[in-house]
Amino acid sequence: MRVLGIETSCDETGVAIYDDQQGLLANHIYSQVRLHAYYGGVVPELASRDHVRKTVPLIQAALSEAGLQAKDIDGVAYTAGPGLVSALMVGATVGSALAYAWRVPDIAVHHMEGHLLAPMLEANPPAFPFVALLVSGAHTQLIAVTGIGKYQLLGESIDDAAGEAFDKIAKLLGLNYPGGPLLSRIAQQGVAGRYIFPRPMTDRPGLNFSFSGLKTFAANTINAVARDAQTHADVARAFEDAVVDTLAIKCSRALDQTGLRRLVIAGGVSANQTLRTRIKEIIEQRGDKVFYPRPELCTDNGAMIAYVGMIRLPSCVKSQLTVTVRPRWSLEELTAVVT
Ligand SMILES: Nc1ncnc2c1ncn2[C@@H]1O[C@H](COP(=O)(O)OP(=O)(O)OP(=O)(O)O)[C@@H](O)[C@H]1O
Ligand SMILES: [Mg+2]
Repeated sequence: MRVLGIETSCDETGVAIYDDQQGLLANHIYSQVRLHAYYGGVVPELASRDHVRKTVPLIQAALSEAGLQAKDIDGVAYTAGPGLVSALMVGATVGSALAYAWRVPDIAVHHMEGHLLAPMLEANPPAFPFVALLVSGAHTQLIAVTGIGKYQLLGESIDDAAGEAFDKIAKLLGLNYPGGPLLSRIAQQGVAGRYIFPRPMTDRPGLNFSFSGLKTFAANTINAVARDAQTHADVARAFEDAVVDTLAIKCSRALDQTGLRRLVIAGGVSANQTLRTRIKEIIEQRGDKVFYPRPELCTDNGAMIAYVGMIRLPSCVKSQLTVTVRPRWSLEELTAVVT
């Protein structure tokens, strides 16, 4: 069985084909970063127009790379939410229309379930149950995962997501959008401990996060210090260390609270090398295990959508051409899948 997956929830057009026997047969991604960089953030109307331009050519490229034709596809999965409504509509409309024309089921996929299950595409996937930290551009959530579709929210950010905070501080440091990876790069030259930033909400019980105060603290520091490259690197280092420590403390706490011994970290910020190394050390010191997707499957991609599509294909019916997208959608609303 083969599923075509389409991702258009924000500023990446992703298309992939997943085969239940052979794994990923194709995985194509087109990033709109250069289009939005001029504006310092994603412009929804430009995003959806660019998805319109890129989705069908990427589908053709994926089919051709995999040496497949329409008749070889058993289902079409698309991201139905959460995300930007006009961007979601593109993938949903194309996906649903193709499924209708090909007389196969269409599968409306939850973007964060895609991120959460991305480590399942790796050679040593985690077994259930586990704790998942989803850390991306719009989400910072801790979830207890007891099976596919069995998700219990343990805690989340009460304001900014970690990725959003990375991008905003990067902007104040004069870095291009999206600044998360660029901030991380200059942080490598930074001196640890020259500036020390708070670890928000770690001094009280609970699994929620808040990054807005940390962001203000970093912004005030940037306004007060010299504007040379070394100082900027030191500030970036202090900010990255504060975010990573905060996430690590809450992950350990979530494992203690649930009694679970496996941790999955996914979403765009999990591509951060400092985060990957430091949290791995901390979790392994506890005798627990941590699982990450490879960096290119941390940020948005079609592979994770095709994978979830395959898992959910048996419960889906032939496309009726009814396109529904959900810009806001809780993971806890998903139905469980028996595997
Ligand atoms: N190496 C890195 N270090 C820090 N942040 C990073 C890194 N790589 C990517 N990011 C951040 O990850 C975010 C993008 O992740 P992703 O593509 O999963 O987000 P999104 O799809 O926009 O949001 P969501 O998945 O919550 O809907 C951006 O904020 C980006 O700066
Ligand atoms: Mg995402």
